[in-house]
Amino acid sequence: MQFQFVGTDVLNLAGGVLIVGAYKDQTLSQIGQVVDEAMSHLLQDFLKDIHFEAEAGKVAFMPGHGQVKFKQIVVVGLGEKGELEADTVRIAAATGLKKAKELKNDDVYFELLGAENLGSRAGQYLAEGVLLGGYQFKKYKKPKKDIIRIEEVKILTDEKVREELKLGNILASAANFVRDIANEPGNVIAPKDLAEIAQKLAEETGLKCTIYNEKDLQTKKMAGILAVGQGSAHPPCFIHLTYQPEHASKRIVVIGKGITFDSGGLDIKPEQFMKTMKCDKSGACAVLGIMKAIADLKLNIEVHGLIPTAENMPGGNAFRPDDIIVFKNGKSVEIHSTDAEGRLILADALIYGSELKPDVMIDMATLTGACMVALGRFTTGVFSPDKDLAAKIKKIGQITGEKFWELPLDDDLKEDLKGTFTDIKNVGSRYGGAITAALFLKEFVSEEIKSWVHLDIAGPAFLEKPWKYYAEGATGVPVRSILTLLLEESEKR
Ligand code: BES
Ligand code: MN
Ligand code: ZN
Repeated sequence: MQFQFVGTDVLNLAGGVLIVGAYKDQTLSQIGQVVDEAMSHLLQDFLKDIHFEAEAGKVAFMPGHGQVKFKQIVVVGLGEKGELEADTVRIAAATGLKKAKELKNDDVYFELLGAENLGSRAGQYLAEGVLLGGYQFKKYKKPKKDIIRIEEVKILTDEKVREELKLGNILASAANFVRDIANEPGNVIAPKDLAEIAQKLAEETGLKCTIYNEKDLQTKKMAGILAVGQGSAHPPCFIHLTYQPEHASKRIVVIGKGITFDSGGLDIKPEQFMKTMKCDKSGACAVLGIMKAIADLKLNIEVHGLIPTAENMPGGNAFRPDDIIVFKNGKSVEIHSTDAEGRLILADALIYGSELKPDVMIDMATLTGACMVALGRFTTGVFSPDKDLAAKIKKIGQITGEKFWELPLDDDLKEDLKGTFTDIKNVGSRYGGAITAALFLKEFVSEEIKSWVHLDIAGPAFLEKPWKYYAEGATGVPVRSILTLLLEESEKR
């Protein structure tokens, strides 16, 4: 998406669709007011006549008139004037763009919705709303003949928001890159395809990329990835991407669960739960998105992106309930469910990540249905022994619109993970399933790592119906938040 700055002198501009904001108290945004006056208050009267509610997501439009040389004026709701949030701007921007498409006009002008209240930061949120709201996974649908493509929007502002718009563009483009991969089905993306995408990304951006194939996994004693992958015709692998600036102030590891399809394995999932399990690679896709954006942002921290990837299938060589696997850190694990596979592949990655001795280690995984039972469809579960880090992520989420909620790493539940013949088993009891999954992961984080956080994205990574500015399918959660965190870490020095 291209953003072009056209200045704020709205009456000296002419074009297709002009998008302005209105608040619930019936007042228009600054540029909206200028337009309204030049139209002898026709716009304001019209909004009154139709009882325009001005909530985020609401939209109205009328033709330009008199001095106002736009074909259509689209008014988007900004809610209560004093309560404007980042997400209000994103939702409003996405709503305006959708209306322009419906009006079949690709000459689109946005004022900086919320500029009165959010200043230049409105630029970032506007860019995110436009990009996230404009995304749809349509590549397998026959294109409609009269479809409108919007590749450039004009912004009624001066150059001073250039950096904010650029940041919004980078963050939302990273999320959309994630969505493009995560939305692909299991017959298109197997572990080797994730590896190819990582390699291509490395070539384009100068990142370092190492792929460990099945043989390498054996020498590296990555027992979890091997066990989970052995029932599939598509062999598993492990991907290590590195961003290494010259004078890095910190080392950070990000890990993403890369199950390209989760059938459940021999403990096969019932039909209604297996559908959408192409989403089980969302954590891995998030790592790819983060690494792509980091190369663009030129951060001064060292970042390692790790992806354990396998397909969980019930083939003739599949791993079984009762199987015992021994991990590189010496821990033995008894398989009680082949459907609790994510934690097994993450265990290898957490051991590998710990060996890199990072200052912060973050894992992202569509790990448990239990997390959705606890927090609903839209909220990421946060688990961390580092309370400051958890608090930081929650706070960032209030800005990015990606929701986070902390759940406890309750040590009293550890006994639920005791194995019959082994140190631990791979499932806990019926209660607190998201927590026991996190406690399982903790067993593989070396004690030297002071700052580790596990993010269970089973709910928000993939939507069955549209929500806010997201279409159904992959959302790219939690990429914008993690990039925001990394930006903060990079600036701290
Ligand atoms: N990939 C699933 C978790 C999941 C569920 C992700 C719904 C997205 C939406 C995971 O591998 C899984 O199957 N977890 C089991 C664990 C259980 C067997 C202990 C679950 O949550 O039922
Ligand atoms: Mn599973
Ligand atoms: Zn899974």
